[in-house]
Amino acid sequence: EFVKAYAPATVANVCCGFDVLGFALDYPGDEVWARRSNAPGIRITDIKGIGGLSADPAENVIGVVAQKMLTELGITHGLELQLHKGMPVGSGMGSSAASSAAAAFAVNEVLGKPFTTEELVVYAMEGERKASGSAHADNVAPSLLGGFVLIRDYDPLDVVPLGTPVDLYCTIIYPQIELKTSLARSILKKEIPMKKGIRQWGNLAGLMAGLLKGDYGLIGRSLHDEIFEPERSILIPLFKQTKEAALSAGALGCGISGSGPSIFALSATAEQAEEVKLAMQQTYAESGIEIKTYVSKV
Ligand code: HSE
Repeated sequence: EFVKAYAPATVANVCCGFDVLGFALDYPGDEVWARRSNAPGIRITDIKGIGGLSADPAENVIGVVAQKMLTELGITHGLELQLHKGMPVGSGMGSSAASSAAAAFAVNEVLGKPFTTEELVVYAMEGERKASGSAHADNVAPSLLGGFVLIRDYDPLDVVPLGTPVDLYCTIIYPQIELKTSLARSILKKEIPMKKGIRQWGNLAGLMAGLLKGDYGLIGRSLHDEIFEPERSILIPLFKQTKEAALSAGALGCGISGSGPSIFALSATAEQAEEVKLAMQQTYAESGIEIKTYVSKV
C-alpha cells in the first residue's frame, strides 16, 4: 500500500522578504506516493502530469530527498516512489520544493515517522540543492509547514513558522516564458545602498507586524521590494502593467513569485482575488503570451 503525500506551491520571495520569507498556497501542488520495497535502493516507477522529468532517483529531487533520509537513518531496505505533478516546472511557484516536501513527508510516514515535520525541512532542502544548486528553505519550509514561514538564518538554520494569522488570498499569473533562477539571480547587484536597505527592513518588519496584528492596511503598505524587483522585473514581460492592474483592482500588494516569471498578488477576500485575476489577465490578453492563472487561499 502506498502512502500518499500532497505538498502545495509556495511564493518565496514575498516582496521585501527576499530569500527569507515564503508562504504556502492550498493549490496547485504535487503528490508523492511512497512504499517500502524489499529490494534495496530507490526506484521511481511512475511520473504523471508532466513530461521530461528524469525517473533516475539520483536525478529527480524526490529520489535525492528519499536517499538522504535513508542514508541518515542507516536504512538498507528500498523504496518505491511515484510523482504526480500538479504544477508547472520553472514557474517561480516552488515546483521542485513541492515535490521535495511531498517526498520528505511520504517517506517519513513509510519509515514510521522518525522525524518531526520541522525536521523534514533539511531533507527537503536537499531537493532544492539538486534542482537549483542552492539548498534554500524559503519554499520547502512553507510547503511542509503551511502558512507563512520566516527563515531567520541559515547558519544554523532557524525556521520560524508564522501560520496564517489573517485571511489572505493569492492570485498568480504564470506567463509561460522560460526564466532560469540562475539568470534571475545573476543579474542582481551585490551591494545594497543604505537608504534602500533601511526601507526594505522597515517594510519587512511592517509586514511581519501587519500579519501578526491582522492589520491589512499595514500589510498593504509593507508589500514592496525596491531593491530586487526593479532589477529583476525587466526579465518578465508586462510586469509593470500587470502589477499596476492588480493594485488598481484592489490587491494589497503584488510582486514577483520566486525568481519569476510568475507574478503574485495578495488580496483580503476571495472575491477581490478573483477581480484581481481578471485585471491581471487583461494585461496579457493581446500580448500573444500564454498564461496560466491560479487563485488560492494562503
Ligand atoms: N528566493 C529565490 C530567488 C527563489 O528569488 O532567487 C528562487 O527559488
